[in-house]
Amino acid sequence: MAETLKNTPLFSSLTKDERACIEAVAVPRSYGRNTVVLSEGDETDSLYIIAAGRVKVSISDDQGKEVILSVLGPGDYFGEMALLDGEPRSASVVTKEPCRVFVISPDSFRKFLSSKPDLAFALLRGALRRLREANRKIEDLALKDVYGRIARLFTQLARSEGETLVITEGLTHQEIAQMIGASREMVSRVLKELVNGGYITSHRRVVTIHKKLPYSW
Ligand code: CMP
Repeated sequence: MAETLKNTPLFSSLTKDERACIEAVAVPRSYGRNTVVLSEGDETDSLYIIAAGRVKVSISDDQGKEVILSVLGPGDYFGEMALLDGEPRSASVVTKEPCRVFVISPDSFRKFLSSKPDLAFALLRGALRRLREANRKIEDLALKDVYGRIARLFTQLARSEGETLVITEGLTHQEIAQMIGASREMVSRVLKELVNGGYITSHRRVVTIHKKLPYSW
């Protein structure tokens, strides 16, 4: 657990002893694939830190149509919103693959927070980062077509692996559609055009980007 907390940006400003205090109150938990960890509207308020695996953060309407707000992985955390504002869970969190997490009770975390202003700043930075990402999404929904939204999403998710840019999130066309507010059919069509145009290749859900993606076609 020590390694996970050290690699979690939220806790990186803490000393080894302070991290040890968090380790002492964090409870390890494992989840299988496609398991609901939290549901939107739940009245729970623990904080979760991801040690292994990836989760999907989403909201849905009455008809069950779903928007994916984010995909989080090792070193990320979730559940801080209800913990801090006392409101119901703002979104659902479902595992995309088997996951290991550490759960911290609200009382333990609040106690810790009151004695560590650095931790409060780290939480605020995290919330502002998510707000900036949400602003970009609003901009894309209002001003960009599906090509532009896919280009933005892929550019955001891409990581350098040697000379190449790859996206290893393992996203399905349906998930991409739910992340950018488009239909699955439209996403499949745009991805096919990107492959035909030599912009990307895709193998076993790993996308490799070969040249700058067009913001419109
Ligand atoms: P909480 O509202 O307690 O439970 C759902 C969690 O999903 C929330 O805390 C955040 O940790 C996370 N979450 C909500 N909105 C976003 C977002 N836009 N991006 C990333 N994570 C989010």
